Amino acid sequence: MNMNEETIDPGIFSVDFDRQIPRRGTASVKWDVPREDGVLPLWVADMDFRTAQPIIDALRRRVEDGIYGYALPPRTWRESLVRWLSVRHGWTMSPDSVLGAIGVVPALAAVVRALCRPGDKVVVQPPVYGCFFTTIRNQGCEVLESPLRRVSAPDGAGGDFTYEMDFDDLERKIAQPGVRLFLLCNPHNPAGRSWTADELRRAGDICRRNGVFVVSDEIHADLQMPGSRHVPFASLSDSFRDGSLSFWSASKAFNLAGLQTAEVVCANSSVRELVGKSLETNGTGGLNPFGFVASSVAWDECAGWLDAVRSYIKGNYIVLCDFLRARLPRLRVATLEATYLAWVDTSALGIPSETLVARLEREAKVLFSPGKIFGEARDEAFLRVNLACPRATLAEALERVAAWCDAAVRT
Ligand SMILES: Cc1ncc(COP(=O)(O)O)c(C=O)c1O
Repeated sequence: MNMNEETIDPGIFSVDFDRQIPRRGTASVKWDVPREDGVLPLWVADMDFRTAQPIIDALRRRVEDGIYGYALPPRTWRESLVRWLSVRHGWTMSPDSVLGAIGVVPALAAVVRALCRPGDKVVVQPPVYGCFFTTIRNQGCEVLESPLRRVSAPDGAGGDFTYEMDFDDLERKIAQPGVRLFLLCNPHNPAGRSWTADELRRAGDICRRNGVFVVSDEIHADLQMPGSRHVPFASLSDSFRDGSLSFWSASKAFNLAGLQTAEVVCANSSVRELVGKSLETNGTGGLNPFGFVASSVAWDECAGWLDAVRSYIKGNYIVLCDFLRARLPRLRVATLEATYLAWVDTSALGIPSETLVARLEREAKVLFSPGKIFGEARDEAFLRVNLACPRATLAEALERVAAWCDAAVRT
């Protein structure tokens, strides 16, 4: 993927993403979990940017109502989403296919409960978002791993390496007795891949042949780097649409995660009914009034802001790559096609990822996510770096890491 193919015109949304907004002491997981003041947190996946102004304005109007009783999400929220899916991603769905949930992780728990029996297996592709493992196991099901295969990055891709699906291994795993679901991460966190139509077709065909239902987590779909395109799994054919459901949310792309609003998009009405009941049983289907107001405005009015933030994140990714090549040349970075999460191979330092993260927090005052929680391979050590921060914050964090490496390990 050539990272320079698409030029972005943020138009009126020339936002000041360089602005450093103090978040410590604001009840923020990202900023207030680090025990010590002064730690730069580039870990959990939210942005240090204010969201788009039309969203803030709409929330302010809703707050002014002063009444925050139980909310009934209006049909316009579903209509805004399907319009966005159609215009932005070329994916036509009916508003009736959309269920609300208080987050993708609670929705995943409800889906596993609805579609699996205890002891059933769910196939995932590590390294992958850590809550996949815990959520599947918490429902009494088994995680079956089909690891991604690491390959060199093609020229012009912007990284040192990338990942592919191992289709032979996937076929073997999907065909195992007791496999009920394939949990796809599209785009993939933390591998940074935006799966192509061809890759999705091959994976989907394997599932279809074996009668395995596909759950496609597309929470990062809107965060394509310039030049990359999201392919919704369900958009590829009628049989993929009927044999799958997708998770969607405005939360990652528009920095709304605290509003706890996500969507399950499912055309298959019998599966949708089961999932809807399961969300109700778990008490995780009811939306709060701020979440659907913010999401609708994001999809209706904020495409320009999203384009501006994607462009800024790409700039940060280039800063990261250039810095590592110049100052920490033994570290390797994965190509970033989507998400704002860079995946950095630190195996050359010879320190296990959890130890490295703990030492960097304590000694260098920078916090990353350790590769261990994503299921990195046994002999590897990765850091996941959150790039959704002002460029000066990223530059300072990288300087601290380089200084620490100079003092503590020879790179
Ligand atoms: C792939 C993926 N799915 C789900 C989530 C969490 O979603 P939610 O906050 O809606 O539960 C994340 C958060 O980083 C994620 O990366």
